[in-house]
Amino acid sequence: MGKLLVTGATGNVGRHVVSQLAEAGLEVRALVRDPGRAGLPVEMAQGDLTMPETLHPALEDVESVFLLWPAFTADGAAEVVEAIAKHARRVVYLSANAADEPGTHYHEIERLIRNSGLGWTFLRPGGFAANTLGWAGQIRQGVVRWPYGAASRPLIHEKDIAAVAVHVLTSGGHGGAAYVLTGPEQLTQAEQVRVIGEVIGREVRWEDQSPDEARDRMMAAWGDPAFVAAALRTWEGFVAVPEPVTDTVERLLGRPALTFRQWAADHAADFS
Ligand SMILES: NC(=O)c1ccc[n+]([C@@H]2O[C@H](COP(=O)([O-])OP(=O)(O)OC[C@H]3O[C@@H](n4cnc5c(N)ncnc54)[C@H](OP(=O)(O)O)[C@@H]3O)[C@@H](O)[C@H]2O)c1
Repeated sequence: MGKLLVTGATGNVGRHVVSQLAEAGLEVRALVRDPGRAGLPVEMAQGDLTMPETLHPALEDVESVFLLWPAFTADGAAEVVEAIAKHARRVVYLSANAADEPGTHYHEIERLIRNSGLGWTFLRPGGFAANTLGWAGQIRQGVVRWPYGAASRPLIHEKDIAAVAVHVLTSGGHGGAAYVLTGPEQLTQAEQVRVIGEVIGREVRWEDQSPDEARDRMMAAWGDPAFVAAALRTWEGFVAVPEPVTDTVERLLGRPALTFRQWAADHAADFS
């Protein structure tokens, strides 16, 4: 099989895509902005998704691309998809559940890819378990203040998203599929914090914060008002109707999806 280019290769998901492809003995190249800092154990090509002209050398001789889009808008994505289509045959795009909603950048990027002539598979995960790393500082203090403690989601381990990406990249029959990926069980945000506390052996309390109070802190962390508003709306919705669980990970990988408790154990050091 031909060479694979992994974007977002230093991130939560991408670093596992790189290591799992390398372990399988496949020819993998990682797109990185700063090779010195990335320090990955595979071939690295320097490039930046906001500068499509930098992508051509990275795409040389590449057959398939794992594409992560790092921004909150689709600005510049058309040029990137065009560059990929010039070189590669297939793209596996790390999209999101929200891709069904017109107006989201996920929807727009999926549309660009569908119209590009590339073969494609879309991975549409729900919430990442890794999002809870944002509470690490508060967990160390013993109390998490955040809105919508009763919002319930089946958070997914980044290793499972990567394993599905690798499966799709290395086996046939996934062209034109949009896979909705979740973890195996719904947990409220307050329960997620309790599980992390149990795994690290420390009591951690949840305190519900009003959305208005939370907005400022979320703005400081994420900087995008539309994204913050969407996140708050999403959590509010998951209080009334929890995010549904899918069995896609298990169907594709032939083993159950990893639990949130397993994820917390893998990341215990990040909270200690
Ligand atoms: N969190 C969720 O609940 C959720 C749910 C569904 C979908 N998603 C999607 O998942 C993706 C995030 O995945 P992740 O958590 O694995 O990523 P991450 O840990 O946030 O890492 C982002 C990666 O993108 C790279 N990157 C950033 N800006 C770049 C640029 N201009 N050019 C090239 N590379 C760039 C970073 O590389 P550097 O080392 O250069 O910084 C890093 O490897 C996003 O597209 C998000 O929309 C997230």
